[in-house]
Amino acid sequence: MNQFTYALPNFAELGKKYSVVDMHFHTEYSHDCKTKLQDVLSHAKSLGIGVAVTDHNDIRGSLLALEQKDLFVIPGIEVTSKNDKDILLYFYSEGDLVNFYQKYVKKNLKYHKRFRFNKTSLSIQEIIDAAHDLNAVSSVAHPFTVQPKKSFYFLNSKKRKELLSEFVAVEVLNAAMKKRANLSSLGWALAENKGLTAGSDGHRLEWLGNAVTCSEGRDIHSFLDSIRKKKNYIVGQESTLAAKLVSELTIFVKNKI
Ligand SMILES: [Fe+2]
Repeated sequence: MNQFTYALPNFAELGKKYSVVDMHFHTEYSHDCKTKLQDVLSHAKSLGIGVAVTDHNDIRGSLLALEQKDLFVIPGIEVTSKNDKDILLYFYSEGDLVNFYQKYVKKNLKYHKRFRFNKTSLSIQEIIDAAHDLNAVSSVAHPFTVQPKKSFYFLNSKKRKELLSEFVAVEVLNAAMKKRANLSSLGWALAENKGLTAGSDGHRLEWLGNAVTCSEGRDIHSFLDSIRKKKNYIVGQESTLAAKLVSELTIFVKNKI
């Protein structure tokens, strides 16, 4: 059964029973982030949590993170479709992540001039087909964010029921979102019988761990399987308005460089 708590995570307590992972974090390998990967890894170790480095359409940070032997790392990426929707993908192995990037992302990378974001020329259907091909756990990132990235209306349309059914999970707790958006995501996920994921979507170090996904699974395989089986637990809370403003300013500055 899905479980969730909207409160600041207590890592020491959670860690007694669960593997605790921030499933959505950005590093210097994202076009909009200046945070050093090594600082993210060191901070995760000091907090006693794991991390999925989910850079925008890039896997360099995730691959370097996976070299850490004393940190629980889930191979991941945040892929942007040609219609600007973000999809989080988590892989059972480093090899699957590399295959996904080489086969699907690398040759379809585009630079989004208007928003200074990179994206791919892949449709959501193509991304989800590729995810199935490599047995990845897919999660709809922040479905109630602002346009053009808001994916709820697109995926909830009657004619896309089959496409939606192919997603494993919905990100129901993203620390960059407003409470209302997260609750809407949770309601949608529960109504559609989806798995649940949570992550801070942090672009600044201090965000790490604001929202986490917990599982009794102690390795990548059992951790990801618990999301599929809806046996994981999500905990976290939205970052403060001040923290969001500082983060947005940092993203703006990085995008101008
Ligand atoms: Fe993100």
